[in-house]
Amino acid sequence: MAVSSLQVNIAGVKLNNPLILASGTAGFGEEISRFYPLENVGAIACKGTTLEPRDGNPPPRIAETPSGIINSVGLENPGADRFINDYLPWLNMQKAVVIANIAGSTQEDYCALAEKFNDTAVDMVEMNISCPNVKSGGLAFGTSCQSVAQITRTVRSHCSKPLIVKLSPNVADIAEIAIAAESEGADALTLINTITAMKIDIQTRRPILRNNIGGLSGPAIFPIAVRMVWQTAAKVKIPVIGAGGISSWQDAVEIMLAGAAAFQIGTANFTDIYTPREVLKGLDEYLEANRLKSVNEIVGGVRAW
Ligand code: FUM
Repeated sequence: MAVSSLQVNIAGVKLNNPLILASGTAGFGEEISRFYPLENVGAIACKGTTLEPRDGNPPPRIAETPSGIINSVGLENPGADRFINDYLPWLNMQKAVVIANIAGSTQEDYCALAEKFNDTAVDMVEMNISCPNVKSGGLAFGTSCQSVAQITRTVRSHCSKPLIVKLSPNVADIAEIAIAAESEGADALTLINTITAMKIDIQTRRPILRNNIGGLSGPAIFPIAVRMVWQTAAKVKIPVIGAGGISSWQDAVEIMLAGAAAFQIGTANFTDIYTPREVLKGLDEYLEANRLKSVNEIVGGVRAW
């Protein structure tokens, strides 16, 4: 029988365990709930949601690579009103901790979205300023300290929910971007989103993706995520949520040792829908084997040289 606790607290919100389903890989939870109850995971970060519904980019939108995928989905989503009216009540019935991932083309979009979610049963808001697949907004807000500080400050003043800022790895110094978000009121950080990438069909000489480029996720980017979490967690006081290629319980332990207070599982959900179950089982056994009472004891525990 398990005696270790997997419970974590992110920005005042209690999660039964540190595993969060990453935005864009679990939709709004319906499909995944056919395989296991959503209350089994710590939280679900829903698909990036915009004010109005979006069809996303034209296909092909996914390219497989040897150790991950490149996507250029383009934030296809049903829009905030549909999320709030149709999906959120159902998610609440599942007893899921719900994170609304918000995305926009302008600062005003993000503010309006934050306000829309203020009076809902969403538990946290994850501000997505790192999507590489849209022509305006997205990543454009997330690549300089100045723009990150400005959008965080502005959205913070419109948002009454715990505010997570999801950062892009497509920057020179992730820690200074993280500090800019923290100093303007972010309650937590998610890092990393995808890394811009490209794949070309050598016969047709055309890029596989209709958008030419997209964002690489999956095991290929895991060591980069570990490095960025380690560099960032040492410099901020707010919780860092690790993301990027986590596929096994060993990866989960590793990213927590680097400093992540919780972690997201994304692309691995596509290779094996039961990855979260296996990761939580392995994490629990690791704590038991190491006689640890709480998963929090491993956070930042790397013994760096
Ligand atoms: O294209 C997309 O919908 C991806 C979103 C993201 O990476 O945040």
